[in-house]
Amino acid sequence: QGGTVLVTGGAGYIGSHAVLALLDAGWSVVVYDNLSTGFTFLVDPRATLVQGEIEDEARMRATLRDHGVVAIMHFAGSIIVPESVSDPLKYYRNNTVASRSLIESAVATGVKHFIFSSTAATYGMPEIVPVAEDMPKLPINPYGTSKLMTEMMLRDVAAAHDFNYCALRYFNVAGADPQGRSGQSTAGATHLIKIAVEAAIGKRDHVTVFGTDYDTPDGTGVRDYIHVSDLAAAHVDALSLLIDRPGDSHTLNAGYGRGYSVLEVLDAVDRVTNLNIERRLAERRPGDSGTLVADNSRILATLPWRPQRADLDGIVKDALAWERKLTDIRP
Ligand code: UFG
Repeated sequence: QGGTVLVTGGAGYIGSHAVLALLDAGWSVVVYDNLSTGFTFLVDPRATLVQGEIEDEARMRATLRDHGVVAIMHFAGSIIVPESVSDPLKYYRNNTVASRSLIESAVATGVKHFIFSSTAATYGMPEIVPVAEDMPKLPINPYGTSKLMTEMMLRDVAAAHDFNYCALRYFNVAGADPQGRSGQSTAGATHLIKIAVEAAIGKRDHVTVFGTDYDTPDGTGVRDYIHVSDLAAAHVDALSLLIDRPGDSHTLNAGYGRGYSVLEVLDAVDRVTNLNIERRLAERRPGDSGTLVADNSRILATLPWRPQRADLDGIVKDALAWERKLTDIRP
C-alpha cells in the first residue's frame, strides 16, 4: 500500500508519532497544523508541513487535491478537560466545528477514509470497567462531548457518502518514540507520567497525588496507560483496514485493558530512576473518575495490531529519555 495521508495536528504529541509510523510504513505524509500547540521540531523532515487552519476550507481542499490525499488522520484539537469546562465554546469550535469543516472538505474532494482521535472521555464515569465501546456515552465535560459529537457526524456521513472512518477512543497516552524522534513537549503538562518524569529530572520538586480515597486497591486513581508508539501503530493498521474494506467503519477503544494506580506509576518512576520522588497526598481533582480501563477486545478482534510496549517501566523510560532530550532542544 502507499499514497499520501494528510495528518492534522501532525506537529503535536500523538500526531507526530503517527507521522513517524506512517513514514516508516512507506506512506507519504502531509502534516496540516496551525502550530498553535504543535512544534516544527516534532515534524519528521520526510513529511511536508503545511501551516494552516482546518477551517480555511479553500486551503484545505487545495492541499487535499494537490497532494492526491487518500486518507485523513485528524489529531488536531483542544484537549484540556478543565479548560473545556471554563471555555466550552472553544472546544465546540476547535473540536466539533473544525471537524465538521474537515469532514466536508474530505467529502468534497473525494477523500474516502478518515481516522479520528476520540477519547475515553466520551464515556464519562462508566459504571462498568473495563469499559466497552457499546456502553453508555455520557461525557461529563465539554471536551468529551465535543469529541462524541464528531463521532456522530462521522457515523452519519459514512451512511450518506462513499466514505468510511475509524474513531479510536484513546485511554491514557504516555511515553515517547523509542528512537527519541518525538515526545510530549507541551509546557505546563497535567498528565501524570509527564509530570513525574519532569520531577525526576529536577523540573519539579514533587508530584501531587490527587485523591487517596477512591474505590481502588490502594485508593489512588487507576488508568490504562498506552504507549504513544503503540497507539500510532494502531492508526496505521486502521488505515489499511479502511482501505481494504471500504464499506465498514469502526469505533475502537485504544488501551491495553490493564490499569495502574497513581502510586504504581510513581513506583515505576522511582524504580527506573533510582530516585525517591516526593509524593504529596492531596484531595481528589474535580471531575476525575476512580478507574478508567479499556475493554480492548474489539480492537484486538478488528485489527492485526497487538500491544508491543505495554510494560509500564518501558513507557516511563521512553518518557524520561525524551524529557532529557527536550531539555537539550529547549532548555
Ligand atoms: N494524577 C495525579 N497527580 C498529577 C496528575 C495526575 O495524581 O499530578 C492522577 C489523576 O488524578 C488520575 C491519573 O493520575 O488519577 C491520571 O491523570 P492524567 O491527568 O494523567 O490523565 P486523565 O486520566 O485525567 O486524563 C486522560 C486524558 C484526557 C481524557 C481523560 C479521560 O489525558 O484527555 O483521560 O479519558 F479526557
